[in-house]
Amino acid sequence: MAVNICGTGSYIPSHIMDNNDIAALVDTSDEWIRERTGVERRHLVNGETTVSMACEAGRRALQYAGVSPEEVDLIIVSTISSNVILPCAACEVQNGLGAVNATCFDLSAACTGFVLAYNTAAAYLAGGVYSTALVIGSESLSNLIDWRDRGTCILFGDGAGAAVLRTDSRKMYLPVTHSDGGKGSALTLKSRHDRNVLDRSPQDRERYEGDGYFMQMDGKAVFQFAVKKVPEVIREVLEKNSVGQDEIDWFLLHQANKRIVDSVAKRLGGPIEKFPMDIQEYGNTSSASIPILLDEMNRKGLLKKGQKIVIAGFGAGLTWGASICDWM
Ligand code: ACO
Repeated sequence: MAVNICGTGSYIPSHIMDNNDIAALVDTSDEWIRERTGVERRHLVNGETTVSMACEAGRRALQYAGVSPEEVDLIIVSTISSNVILPCAACEVQNGLGAVNATCFDLSAACTGFVLAYNTAAAYLAGGVYSTALVIGSESLSNLIDWRDRGTCILFGDGAGAAVLRTDSRKMYLPVTHSDGGKGSALTLKSRHDRNVLDRSPQDRERYEGDGYFMQMDGKAVFQFAVKKVPEVIREVLEKNSVGQDEIDWFLLHQANKRIVDSVAKRLGGPIEKFPMDIQEYGNTSSASIPILLDEMNRKGLLKKGQKIVIAGFGAGLTWGASICDWM
């Protein structure tokens, strides 16, 4: 039994912060950020939460699929930026949508999160445990970033994307995923935050000075890991499923840095047109980046029935993985 993505949705906050706005906060420039990352602007929560964005993306995906909330029997929310520890974001989404028959849980694997959530839902569906799943990636990373650290604050943005999965009679593809906990120090975050540090009082800000309370990243190490491991895992997943690289219509990579996507495309022999990007508009939205891109492409009519798509994620943990899906 295989699975089919039968609907997508996304929610992007309307509040925009462009590179010049960031240059007013830290010692950087629009030119540096564009050249080194490809990011031009990012959308940030302004009243929204990780859960409210997840709910709206999920609602839009269900509407697209023509699936009622009551038909959903599994909801997985991939996030590292849930508003609260308990209850889990997926249960709050269930409540918001009225998906009363769903089993709900969160998954935490940072920028590989959506790929792992997709694989988890697909395995449940393929095994016959459930028949309709809603998989969501939602992040308000602006709350987790130290806006005084130019090494991280230039990269990230907020948003949510969702996909509805159903069982299908076509061929089942097996995913390939890896983790290397020994390299976890490359990307760390000690504390959960429900608001942007800039919205805190000076006294409150001091509480969170230093000591890893905001996201800390060895950018170079993550970059080198990504450009090596992502092409490797894509080759692995193609080989495992006896699918030729030329049979793939789209490679949807986690949007972390334009130079990473360019480098992966080059190492795989391109063409770059098969590696769509929207990082210029949203920055790195962690586990939301792949479903946001998927929904954008779907709504633009770029995805055609029968096309084959590779989704590939990488990030904190370290974790990385790739999966193949047939479109609709
Ligand atoms: N503006 C201006 N100058 C800067 C900035 C900035 N924002 N940041 C760093 N610099 C300076 C540095 O101080 C350094 O100056 P020096 O040469 O005088 O020492 C120079 O620019 C180069 O710095 P690098 O850190 O080497 O810059 P790099 O080209 O590596 O770009 C970046 C940094 C953009 C962070 C890059 O390493 C990157 O994108 N890494 C990958 C991050 C990623 O993919 N994360 C995904 C996972 S996220 C998750 O899982 C939640």
